[in-house]
Amino acid sequence: MTPSDSAGLPPQVSPPQFALSTLLPDAIGGVEVLAFPALPGPDGSTLLGPGADQAAESLGIGLLDLLDALTGPGADAPGKPGQVTTLPVGGHASVRRVLLVGVGDQSAPAFRRAGAALARATRDVDAVASSIAAIAEPDGFEAFVVGAMLGSFGFHWRSTGPEHTPVARIVLAGHADAGELDGVLRRAIAIGGASWRSRTLATVPSNLKNPEWLAEQAREVAADSGLEVSVWDEKELAKRGMGGLLAVGRASATPPRLIRLDYTPSSGRTSGKRTTRGARRAARVVLVGKGITFDTGGLSIKTAEGMATMKRDMTGGGVVISVLGALAAVGCPVRVTGLVAAAENAVGADSVRPGDVVHHYGGRTSEVNNTDAEGRLVLADALAYAVDQLKPDVIVDVATLTGAVRVALGSSIAALYATDDTLAERLLDSGRRAGEPSWRMPLASVYDEKLASKIADVDNAPGGPGSITAALFLQGFVGEVPWAHYDLASVGDATADSFEWSKGPTGWGARALLEWLGSDDPVKGIR
Ligand code: BES
Ligand code: MN
Ligand code: ZN
Repeated sequence: MTPSDSAGLPPQVSPPQFALSTLLPDAIGGVEVLAFPALPGPDGSTLLGPGADQAAESLGIGLLDLLDALTGPGADAPGKPGQVTTLPVGGHASVRRVLLVGVGDQSAPAFRRAGAALARATRDVDAVASSIAAIAEPDGFEAFVVGAMLGSFGFHWRSTGPEHTPVARIVLAGHADAGELDGVLRRAIAIGGASWRSRTLATVPSNLKNPEWLAEQAREVAADSGLEVSVWDEKELAKRGMGGLLAVGRASATPPRLIRLDYTPSSGRTSGKRTTRGARRAARVVLVGKGITFDTGGLSIKTAEGMATMKRDMTGGGVVISVLGALAAVGCPVRVTGLVAAAENAVGADSVRPGDVVHHYGGRTSEVNNTDAEGRLVLADALAYAVDQLKPDVIVDVATLTGAVRVALGSSIAALYATDDTLAERLLDSGRRAGEPSWRMPLASVYDEKLASKIADVDNAPGGPGSITAALFLQGFVGEVPWAHYDLASVGDATADSFEWSKGPTGWGARALLEWLGSDDPVKGIR
């Protein structure tokens, strides 16, 4: 299906390139900006990180002047994470500015903020040399790089080109054992890149982004990262009995797709798991993403205001595609299958109607009492299929599912539901570490009865508590497989530019899932 805008997207900006160096920043030639970490010292003083003395000397700026600039009147807590103090430099061949960037308690979140702040302060600059990450532990180093990438994020569809270009090159200077950090840097770039991709996918307007376009993105990711990919079109979906996905996608000019990506770990890092027959095989995780490429609400139509952000209703699907593309780079030891249930929830003569009954994969029926509760209808088919055909050890789905979760958690925390406590702890911890925090919500069986339908197995619009009843609906399709569900509707949108977040679609979830799947044994201790 050709997108209705055949001109397509103009070339986009790319994240910065990173290079490691053992040299101190002032010894790196040809850079316009030098950046040093500012740390809170004893008695309210401020300390500067590696190479600041040398830079002060070679630039002819007294170190005391630097410190004065930090601590003088009007300067706001210079050591605070992500606080940037700028010192103009005159008379140097290339250096125009020195930046002192607060790194606070030197925790990973502080370095993430410092990285993002550095990126925001160096937009449109060609090259910067920084010793900020040189004082970090590996997790802080990784967070710094990811922060610098995401703080650079941009997307545009202007005839005149992007308004700003990310800093093209960041030299990570002052690293004693630059070789040892190579692996950490590669992993950070993979995580930052996946998060960037996920944000881009969520940002692309829906006159371009339809189910087949999303499938094409998955094919490109697969080709780049050595994944297997397959895409089911509407005929195949009908053969497989995926009535939820077909019903939701039926009124759209661009028919639904089920996108599948498969990652197999290279031998060596395969985590063994004993089956009852004693044969060893790698455990398998299935990730399922909601891929609604636009959500009008269908006949239960949304208000104009409610519809305004609905191009990003495929955030979960974009996360799944992006995560799959980065699994090899983070050394994921388990097999992972990604399923994206992609459809446009449109209005048309052929729309699914309130009161219609749909057959999901495997035979369960839903009464569609609200066509705007479409996410659970498409996810149900993919979840049931995964349970029936893929023998998963763990299933995790990712979906911008309910407006209700935004009321509960605001815009900075995602909702996490899980049938297994170990899985829940793993995901909560991974999210905390990666900077994508979630809060566990209950799969409270006391609300089960709300899901009863007069005529079908389940009602798709059971009423409040909306995020919980939506999760309970999904639980009906996962059988006994350990399962977790992210309701991302709270965090799909950033309200303002803030450190690594940029106003608009967030692509939330890629970092948290890669932190989990890139760990030594992601499924350890899960039933
Ligand atoms: N895509 C929406 C959820 C959403 C709302 C995401 C706001 C991001 C921001 C979802 O398909 C939806 O419309 N859910 C309904 C369900 C209701 C009709 C049972 C909702 O939450 O209002
Ligand atoms: Mn909806
Ligand atoms: Zn939706």
